[in-house]
Amino acid sequence: MSTSSDSIVHISDLTFAWTRKSDPIMNISEFSMARGERIFLHGPSGSGKTTFLSLLAAVLRPQRGSIIVDDVQVDSLKHGNRDQFRVDKIGVVFQQFNLLPFLSVSENVQLPCRFSKQRRAAVLNTGRSLSEETDRLLDAMQLPIADIKHKQVTQLSVGQQQRVAVARALIGTPPLVIADEPTSALDRDTRQAFLNLLFKEVEASKSSLLFVSHEKSLASAFDRDMDLRSINNTDLPDTLNGALR
Ligand SMILES: Nc1ncnc2c1ncn2[C@@H]1O[C@H](COP(=O)(O)OP(=O)(O)OP(=O)(O)O)[C@@H](O)[C@H]1O
Ligand SMILES: [Mg+2]
Repeated sequence: MSTSSDSIVHISDLTFAWTRKSDPIMNISEFSMARGERIFLHGPSGSGKTTFLSLLAAVLRPQRGSIIVDDVQVDSLKHGNRDQFRVDKIGVVFQQFNLLPFLSVSENVQLPCRFSKQRRAAVLNTGRSLSEETDRLLDAMQLPIADIKHKQVTQLSVGQQQRVAVARALIGTPPLVIADEPTSALDRDTRQAFLNLLFKEVEASKSSLLFVSHEKSLASAFDRDMDLRSINNTDLPDTLNGALR
């Protein structure tokens, strides 16, 4: 069995319910993700994929159990330390991107470096300035830099916003990148190209990648293709189980 130091993520005996009175929707006895591993996570709508990512990112707290991310005991982090943990350790692409509409594209990409000394230092250690690294990432995401970098994010197409969100997740090489359906707004042809770009970046930074998607055709490119239900021992609501049969 792997230990926390050779795993980027280690979960044991985890239980999560939305309220004290409701039934748990997550019961995970054991889950490990190796450093550098790329996991494709799938499961039907409502099966808990976003909830699972939120637990890893210390957005939600489990009722019971242990969550370790990059040797940090996430479940016992004090409220005030959770935001710092997240910005230092995790590059996050939310299902709803969460770009800040009042900031420009470049400012959005650089946001993690404003709040994380570690990520700022990681950029500067490459010999590039923040602005050079921002341009490099936007270019790697095949976005037309000159055209968009000073625009408000609301002036971009949804597919472009999704790629800006990925550039923001990657800046400063966080050890774990979690992405919640980052390709949903991209057409079929650009999805695979986008994935190749993402893989190239996480490989260069030796980051681990946990990637949620309904797009099963992408799964084979990953190290592991995992259905959340294979680690989550909670009975889904009858309606959902019924829908799956
Ligand atoms: N804020 C919330 N409060 C209470 N219940 C919630 C909340 N967010 C989600 N749920 C419930 O938790 C379950 C898991 O939801 P979750 O969003 O994690 O699913 P998902 O697998 O990400 O689905 P999708 O593929 O549609 O994004 C669902 O039954 C959902 O109704
Ligand atoms: Mg979801």
